[in-house]
Amino acid sequence: MFNTIAVLCASAYYLSARAALFQGPSHLSANKAYDYIIVGGGAAGSVLANRLTENRDVHVLLVEAGSSNFEDILIEVPNFAGRLAGTQFDWNFTTTPQPGLEGRVLPFERGHVLGGSTCINFMAFTRGSRDDWDRLANVTNDKGWSWESIFPYAKKLEHLVPPIDRRDISDEVDIRVHGLHGPVHASVPAFLVSTDDRVISTTQQLPDEFPFNRDMNSGDPIGIGWTPSTIAGGVRQSGALSYLKPILSIRQNLDVVVNTHVTKLLQTGSVGKLPEMRGVQLSQPGSKKTLTLRATKEVIVSAGAVKTPQLLMLSGIGDSAELSKLNIKTIVDLPDVGKNLQDHPFVTGSFTVNNTNTLDVLNNATVESQQLAIWKKNHGGLLALPSGNQVGWIRLPKNSSVFSESGVGTDPSAGPTSAHWETILFDGFIGFGGPPPSTGNFFTAFIVLTSPTSRGNVTLNTTDPFAPPIINPSYLTTPFDILTMRSAIRGIRRFTSAPAWDGWITGEFGPFKQAQSDEQLDAFARANTVTINHVSGTVRVGKSGSVVEEGTGALDSDLKVKGTVGLRVVDASIFPFIPAAHTQVPTYIVAERVSDLIKADAANACKKEAASS
Ligand SMILES: Cc1cc2nc3c(=O)[nH]c(=O)nc-3n(C[C@H](O)[C@H](O)[C@H](O)COP(=O)(O)OP(=O)(O)OC[C@H]3O[C@@H](n4cnc5c(N)ncnc54)[C@H](O)[C@@H]3O)c2cc1C
Ligand SMILES: *[C@@H]1O[C@H](CO)[C@@H](O)[C@H](O)[C@H]1NC(C)=O
Ligand SMILES: *[C@@H]1O[C@H](CO)[C@@H](O)[C@H](O)[C@H]1NC(C)=O
Ligand SMILES: *[C@@H]1O[C@H](CO)[C@@H](O)[C@H](O)[C@H]1NC(C)=O
Ligand SMILES: *[C@@H]1O[C@H](CO)[C@@H](O)[C@H](O)[C@H]1NC(C)=O
Ligand SMILES: *[C@@H]1O[C@H](CO)[C@@H](O)[C@H](O)[C@H]1NC(C)=O
Ligand SMILES: *[C@@H]1O[C@H](CO)[C@@H](O)[C@H](O)[C@H]1NC(C)=O
Ligand SMILES: *[C@@H]1O[C@H](CO)[C@@H](O)[C@H](O)[C@H]1NC(C)=O
Repeated sequence: MFNTIAVLCASAYYLSARAALFQGPSHLSANKAYDYIIVGGGAAGSVLANRLTENRDVHVLLVEAGSSNFEDILIEVPNFAGRLAGTQFDWNFTTTPQPGLEGRVLPFERGHVLGGSTCINFMAFTRGSRDDWDRLANVTNDKGWSWESIFPYAKKLEHLVPPIDRRDISDEVDIRVHGLHGPVHASVPAFLVSTDDRVISTTQQLPDEFPFNRDMNSGDPIGIGWTPSTIAGGVRQSGALSYLKPILSIRQNLDVVVNTHVTKLLQTGSVGKLPEMRGVQLSQPGSKKTLTLRATKEVIVSAGAVKTPQLLMLSGIGDSAELSKLNIKTIVDLPDVGKNLQDHPFVTGSFTVNNTNTLDVLNNATVESQQLAIWKKNHGGLLALPSGNQVGWIRLPKNSSVFSESGVGTDPSAGPTSAHWETILFDGFIGFGGPPPSTGNFFTAFIVLTSPTSRGNVTLNTTDPFAPPIINPSYLTTPFDILTMRSAIRGIRRFTSAPAWDGWITGEFGPFKQAQSDEQLDAFARANTVTINHVSGTVRVGKSGSVVEEGTGALDSDLKVKGTVGLRVVDASIFPFIPAAHTQVPTYIVAERVSDLIKADAANACKKEAASS
């Protein structure tokens, strides 16, 4: 065994001088040493690979299970976001039968490509609220997670660009709270659609419940505003495009290997009584060959909120009672691994409209191919739009009967800037129960629970690392969640009853129309709820310290896995409470901040070594 301290300061022994994108593990050399090995090239992994290699002396290997095809046209065309489910870019997970959803099994999309879920998501760009982050600071007892502390990172990652039509957007964003120099290009909708004026008029007609919010990324998202998204110049801006493409062939200290799974985290020694977890085993589906590599400084697991807990458990880090069922030897008994799954369930409400000038035109194959030709020519046209030009973040009224009837006691949201529900407003039909109607014109409101109290889990089914784990999100299993859904659906009906919609909305459509009484609303929700794909929380962070009882967190406040040396988790798994926001930007923020913590740790290790020699 070699001297750990000496290695912490010196950079890794490194043979190749060329940065490389390897197509499989057979191209890697077991003799090559890396300072950091990052597992998973999704939202968090892309950030880490970029930031850690800013120092030329730091050598990093990024391992991604999916391919490097992040510039595939299905990924790059914003309006094709709905077509990525069930493709090579999706892990094709499903949930267990959901008791809160009449026993239905839901597809559970996760990105399987360099860029991860940022390549298949719907691109909404939201940071979360001041209260979401301040609650994280409170739970971890670490002010570094407060809104004030993360705000500089939120700006650092962003590059706000004008929309395609170059309209004046001073009423749509408050430029003072945005970043203008970061890697992730973002913007407001490419151009205006036929319902925009009506939505904005509604905020003037019903300002108490649906106030206008000029910028939902200011820390206070409450109200209705223009959708910020990771679409720029008509092209999806994935984590891979933003953080990896610009450096892939340039930085000699970064290796990326795709089509390669990390199948196990390996103990490489002990430091005092703690296991040192600096080894990884790599393999490919269907292959019996494995390759073992070690990191001199850290292994960082960024495989996302489904695969990260699975990998930890397969490696002996988890609830020992659960691990022993599969004869997995426990290395660290960490009961929080795989628990505390949180997600945002939603339904859609569809309305028929008295106007043919809506985005329903895209359901016509001829029109779509014309639009695709335009997109191919200049990245413009209808396919450049996000899936709704406005988004609203709404709180239940203080005196809402949901609080008393559900028995929650205190409000489960993070605070007054965190929404209980969200609506996404789309100028056309979007449904999740089959193809769109062949004729007609529609308006669709997504109704999303953003501060749910249901908690699910990810558990192992087998010890096969290529088999999916058992995913049980437990949607709508608490009175608070079903009552909030009921209340939110009624809220959307108040929204569309504003005078702004007179002569435009002509009625409700489909099963939504029949859902009027409390019982009908609950039945509608249980029959139609799906997920907006924000799974989080399955390796939750807690306060630093050695206590590892259930509920205290599996990670220190700096995201090191408790009870181990050399291992961190950095991805959407870490949130103890799901932010009341779409989760890609919160994940980017976490990874940006932790990149600095990792750099600081390395610098401190060097100083210590210098002082002792
Ligand atoms: C369909 C969909 C729509 C969404 N819409 C939005 C939206 O509009 N706005 C928003 O903000 N968020 C949205 N999200 C959520 C957002 O994309 C995720 O929260 C975010 O990408 C999570 O980042 P992550 O780093 O935790 O995981 P991911 O981005 O999923 O990355 C994990 C990566 O690890 C890889 N991996 C997994 N296991 C292994 C292994 N064993 N070895 C090697 N590699 C491995 C995966 O292939 C993947 O590339 C959506 C997600 C989906 C799926
Ligand atoms: C998901 O399913 C599709 C369709 O069967 C398949 O082509 C794709 O390879 C699958 N994805 C993965 C990661 O296996
Ligand atoms: C922080 O959390 C504690 C419980 O752990 C709670 O009592 C306190 O009110 C919280 N403070 C804030 C500011 O949220
Ligand atoms: C589809 O659009 C084309 C071109 O606008 C039009 O000619 C055709 O009638 C449309 N088809 C249907 C089924 O509406
Ligand atoms: C809540 O208060 C508003 C006015 O402040 C009132 O109109 C409404 O009826 C109240 N709701 C309940 C459930 O008490
Ligand atoms: C996972 O959740 C289900 C449903 O709530 C529960 O029955 C099961 O015991 C949980 N498993 C673990 C390991 O917590
Ligand atoms: C668990 O594994 C068994 C045996 O391989 C398989 O039949 C079953 O479908 C798996 N369950 C899930 C939820 O993946
Ligand atoms: C539909 O719109 C036209 C004018 O645009 C209007 O005359 C008519 O009354 C509307 N119909 C309904 C049902 O609102």
